[in-house]
Amino acid sequence: MSDITTLDQFNAELQRIQARADVLVPAATTTEAVEAARVELVGRTSGVLTALSTALGALPKEDRREAGQRFNAVRVAIESALDAARVTQSAAASVKLADPTMPGRAAWRGSRHPVSIVFDEIEAIFRELGFTVALGPEAEHEWYNFGALNFPADHPAMDMHDTLYLGEGRLLRTHTSPVQIRTMQAYAPPIRILAPGNVYRRDFFDATHAPVFSQLEGLAIDEGISFADLKATLALFARRFYGTSTKTRFGPSYFPFTEPSAQMEVEVDLDDGRGPRWLEIMGCGLVHPAVLESCGIDSERYSGWAFGMGPGRIAMSRYGINDIRLLYDSDVRFLEQFSAC
Ligand code: PHE
Repeated sequence: MSDITTLDQFNAELQRIQARADVLVPAATTTEAVEAARVELVGRTSGVLTALSTALGALPKEDRREAGQRFNAVRVAIESALDAARVTQSAAASVKLADPTMPGRAAWRGSRHPVSIVFDEIEAIFRELGFTVALGPEAEHEWYNFGALNFPADHPAMDMHDTLYLGEGRLLRTHTSPVQIRTMQAYAPPIRILAPGNVYRRDFFDATHAPVFSQLEGLAIDEGISFADLKATLALFARRFYGTSTKTRFGPSYFPFTEPSAQMEVEVDLDDGRGPRWLEIMGCGLVHPAVLESCGIDSERYSGWAFGMGPGRIAMSRYGINDIRLLYDSDVRFLEQFSAC
């Protein structure tokens, strides 16, 4: 560019470069062509515009300001034309890569845990019957977990619970029954509550046992409540949860805090080719008068019933899950199977 020494020559060269850009940039229909145009026009080492900038210094002093302004205007115009062309061509390139006959990619859907699904369904059924949810602490006093529930001191029934003791009369609750006690102390009958939550037992962690698992208890206290109320309500629950033709039966059981105590079984077909069979799904019974009295409720006037079940076990039988550890692993390959539930 050493031959450019006047403003006219400078302007003529600028115009020529602009004209070249006006042809080159619209003709660049691939990202490679846009890049080649950029190198030719404004490339750092060999671009024609870059070369012209060195000629600025050779112009008469009084022309340099005007020349500089024109130069910058052309540079900005060419660079923005190149930018726009690059965006258009790279968008076009990615469209070409996509195969329009490919099925759309399904968005990954989050899913609820099978135990939560079971919890929510059971809760919805009992809410319609007037029950509300009550919660309590997982670290409990021995008295709430055992004493108030009519477990005599050193009674072998406590062995059933393989308790994790925390010292100073405290333990990790072995069932959610202490929530019954806390509710009866705090509220006057009539009472209808569901007590869901985690419970702890000193147990192995294997295919059928876990040292922490979920429980769901129910409690109803009112005047004139009998075993017939318990049977009717729990049979209705079973038909709502397992299907309208589900059969139920009650057999004898033992819990220190209920008298009489029972276990409820439901006849269900798990669609595993083995046909219908009886499944024990909960323990239940009429609340022992001693339990009502330990909460300051007049057992001559009030009576009640309670039940307790394990939503984890119910989820396992319902969904054909054969290892309880799957409920704890948070493995998305397992969990995403429940996204349609
Ligand atoms: N709390 C009992 C248990 O964990 C279950 C239960 C609750 C039984 C209420 C009867 C009534 O074994």
